Amino acid sequence: MYTSKITGLGYYVPENVVTNDDLSKLMDTNDAWIQERTGIKERRHIKKGDGNSTSKMGVKAAKIALERAGITKDDIDMIVFATLSPDMYFPGGGVEVQEMMEMRTIPALDVRNQCSGFVYALSVADQYIKTGMCKNVLVIGAENHSGGLDFTTRGRSVSVIFGDGAGAAVVSRGDAEGSGILSTHLHSEGQYKNELALQGPSTEYWVPQIIEDDPQENIPYYPYMNGQFVFKHAIVRFSEVIKEGLDANNLKVADIDMLIPHQANLRISQFIQQKLGLGDDQVFNNIQKYGNTTAASIPIALTEAWEAGKIKKGDLVVLAAFGSGFTWGSAIIRW
Ligand code: COA
Repeated sequence: MYTSKITGLGYYVPENVVTNDDLSKLMDTNDAWIQERTGIKERRHIKKGDGNSTSKMGVKAAKIALERAGITKDDIDMIVFATLSPDMYFPGGGVEVQEMMEMRTIPALDVRNQCSGFVYALSVADQYIKTGMCKNVLVIGAENHSGGLDFTTRGRSVSVIFGDGAGAAVVSRGDAEGSGILSTHLHSEGQYKNELALQGPSTEYWVPQIIEDDPQENIPYYPYMNGQFVFKHAIVRFSEVIKEGLDANNLKVADIDMLIPHQANLRISQFIQQKLGLGDDQVFNNIQKYGNTTAASIPIALTEAWEAGKIKKGDLVVLAAFGSGFTWGSAIIRW
C-alpha cells in the first residue's frame, strides 16, 4: 500500500458579498436572528454575468491548488468532483472541469453526498492513491446555492444559511509511513433522506408534473430542511465519527491540532467543540463570512486555515462532516 497526502489547496468565492441586511430586504428576516441561530454574518452569491458557475468556480480553486502542489494539469490522473448544485442535471461537474482545464482523457467522477461530499470525495481519492491506481487526484467541492434558493419569506429558514463557493485539494502519493491521510470514515442513514432534500425536478417528479401541481402550494424545486431534526442528528454524528477516526489510529481528542468541521452552522461547531473539550485554537470556523457552502465548506476552511499558518507540518488535522442523506464522515490527517 502507498500513502497519500494533500499537496495543494485552493479556494474561490464570488466577489459579491450578501449581508444579512441585504437578505432582510428580500424576506422577513433580520441580522440578529440569523447571527444568533447560525453565526452567519454574510455569504457570497454568484451575480448574473460575473462569469461564475459551480464548475467554473471549481476550476478557479483547482488552478490554485495545482500551482501550490507544484504540478500541472497533465500530472492529474483523476478528477473527483463533489456538489449538490451541478451546472447541468447531467453530465456532472467533473467532465466540465476536464474540458475547461484542457486535461487528458482522465476519469472524472462526480460525488453526490451534499455536505459530506468533500470528505467522501477525499476518501475516494485516498483509496485510488493508496492502491497505486493514481499518483495525483484533483478533488473539488463546489456549490452554486444561490441559483436555486427561495429568497422569499417562505424559504427564509433555509435560504439565509447557504452560500456559493469552491475549494480544491490535490491528493498525491505520499513519501512517509504514518503521515498524510491516515484514514477516512464514511456513513449513511437513508431513512432520513427527506429531512434535508430537494425533491425535484427528478425522474420521480419531472417538470410537467411540477407545473401541473399548484406551484404556490407545492414547491419541490426548493430545498426542504427540518432544521431542528438535522441539528440534533448532526451534533451526535459529528462527535461519533471524529472519535471513530481517532480510535482507528490510536489517537485521543487531545492529540487534535486542528479540527475543520463542515461549516453547517456555527452553533453546531461550537457544540462539538464543547462536547469534545477542544480549545478555540483547535477548531477553525469561517461560516461567519461564507455561510454554509456544503461540499465546498471544508476545502475552503482548510485552505484558509492553512494560509493563516494554523496548520503546520506534523499537525494532526481532523475533517468531519454531516449532511443530507443523512451522510457523514471524517478524515484523519497527519500534515
Ligand atoms: N429569519 C427570521 N425568522 C425565521 C427565519 C429567518 N431566516 N427562519 C425561520 N424563522 C422563524 C420561524 O418561522 C419560527 O417562527 P415561529 O416561532 O413564529 O414559528 C422561528 O423563527 C423559529 O424557527 P425554528 O425553525 O424553530 O428555528 P431554529 O432555532 O430551529 O433555527 C435553524 C433554525 C435552521 C437555524 C436551525 O434549526 C439549524 O441551524 N439547524 C441545522 C441546520 C443545518 O445545519 N443545516 C445544514 C446541515 S449540513
